[in-house]
Amino acid sequence: MAIAVYPGSFDPFTRGHLDIATRAAALFDGLIVAVARDAEKRHMFSLEERVQMAREACEHLPNISVDSFGGLVVEYIVTRGARVMVKGVRDSSDLEREAMMGAMNSALAPDVETVLLIARPEYAFLSSSLLKHVHQLGGDISRFVTPLVLRMLDDKSRDTRSSSDA
Ligand code: PNS
Repeated sequence: MAIAVYPGSFDPFTRGHLDIATRAAALFDGLIVAVARDAEKRHMFSLEERVQMAREACEHLPNISVDSFGGLVVEYIVTRGARVMVKGVRDSSDLEREAMMGAMNSALAPDVETVLLIARPEYAFLSSSLLKHVHQLGGDISRFVTPLVLRMLDDKSRDTRSSSDA
C-alpha cells in the first residue's frame, strides 16, 4: 500500500486544498490529510475546528483520512508507515519555500520523498490568509470554500464583532 501524507495548517481548509487532496488521493492507495498543531503560529481556528473542516470536505473520498500531528512532519510520516509527503505549489515563492523545506526534510529523513503538485489555475491565487482577509472585508468567498467553512468563518467574524462591540 502506497500511503502519502498531505500536511498543512489548513486555517481554514479551502477548495484549493481539496483539489490537491483529491488529485493526490488518485495517485496513492491512501492519503492522510495531516493538520499541523504548530504551537508557534497563531491560527484563527483551533486544531479541532481545522480537523473538522478537512474531514467534512474530504468525506466523499473513501481513501482519505484526516489526522493531526505535532512536532516534525517527517517523524509523523514515518510513524504512520508512509514514505511520501504531498504539497501543493501555486507560484515561484511557494516553490522556493517547498524546495528549502523539502531539502531539510530529506536531510532529516532520506527515505521520505516530497511530491509537489502544481495548483490548478483556478486555485493558483487562493491562500487561506487571503481568503480570511477578503472575508473580513465583506468579500464573497463562497466559491472558494465549502459551506461549512463559510459558516465557521461567518461565526468567527460575528464573535469578533460582538466582542469588540462589548
Ligand atoms: O499550510 P502550511 O502553513 O504551508 O503548512 C506548513 C507545514 C505545517 C506543513 C510545515 O510548517 C511543517 O511541516 N510543520 C511541521 C514542523 C516541521 O516538521 N518543520 C520542519 C519543516 S522543514
